[in-house]
Amino acid sequence: MILIKTEEEIELLRQSNLLVSKTLATIAELIKPGISTLSLDTLAEEYIRDHGGTPGFLHYNGYPKTLCTSVNFQVVHGIPSECMLKEGDIVSVDCGVILNGYYGDSAYTFAIGNINERVAELLRVTKESLYKGIEMAIEGKRLGDLGYAIQNHCEKAGFSVVREMVGHGLGKNLHEAPEVPNYGSRGKGIMLKKGMVICIEPMINLGRKEIVQEKDGWTIRTADFKPSAHFEHAVAIGKGKADILSEFQFIEQAEAENAYLHHK
Ligand code: MF3
Ligand code: CO
Repeated sequence: MILIKTEEEIELLRQSNLLVSKTLATIAELIKPGISTLSLDTLAEEYIRDHGGTPGFLHYNGYPKTLCTSVNFQVVHGIPSECMLKEGDIVSVDCGVILNGYYGDSAYTFAIGNINERVAELLRVTKESLYKGIEMAIEGKRLGDLGYAIQNHCEKAGFSVVREMVGHGLGKNLHEAPEVPNYGSRGKGIMLKKGMVICIEPMINLGRKEIVQEKDGWTIRTADFKPSAHFEHAVAIGKGKADILSEFQFIEQAEAENAYLHHK
């Protein structure tokens, strides 16, 4: 069953997702070569609790941390560790919170210093594809239209779309119906209605689309060990226009001001 949220619920979801965005912006200020993903996790947990929220991923199905930090060939669900980020890495930082009973969930992939040119293209195209999907997050469009828009944009650039992992509805639960694939056929799938709230989260690989799960039971990596990128927004379906509940502006501003993150 796909829940339709009231305007009040959408405002609460906006607050939750804004807290996620501000947490990710705090990370964008401090991320640099030599910092461990575990220290980013500690920072995120503190920031969330200081702002009245609870980490949304911590203990979710037994997940052990506040963030998912997926480095280079890790796709999603990487577990923060003592491992240090280094120049040339990319890292997807995925963050969830619960605030006033509603979940926020958003992710952003950072480049640590100068990265390979093709990898930089992967980040750019993956982020663009998220917005191509968001353009389809309006009443009357179908999930297949949304998936097609993402898939078409990424495959045109020579990248591949992960199939097994998908976006999802968001509300009082982290994962609600419907599943939101990042691939699809135009005109297929369920029709979107105003008031549905979904997380759109393309996971795009530089090489082949195949993934495998690491022995830790969480980390998903590419089968060919080539890099993967991941961006996620929470979006309320509107009439004629999608309402993006998370916010990359804080993150992008912090990223631009962080001297350690200069892109080529
Ligand atoms: N954004 C991810 C997802 O929607 C994060 C979930 S991590 C988990 O699947 F630990 F909470 F499962
Ligand atoms: Co999600």
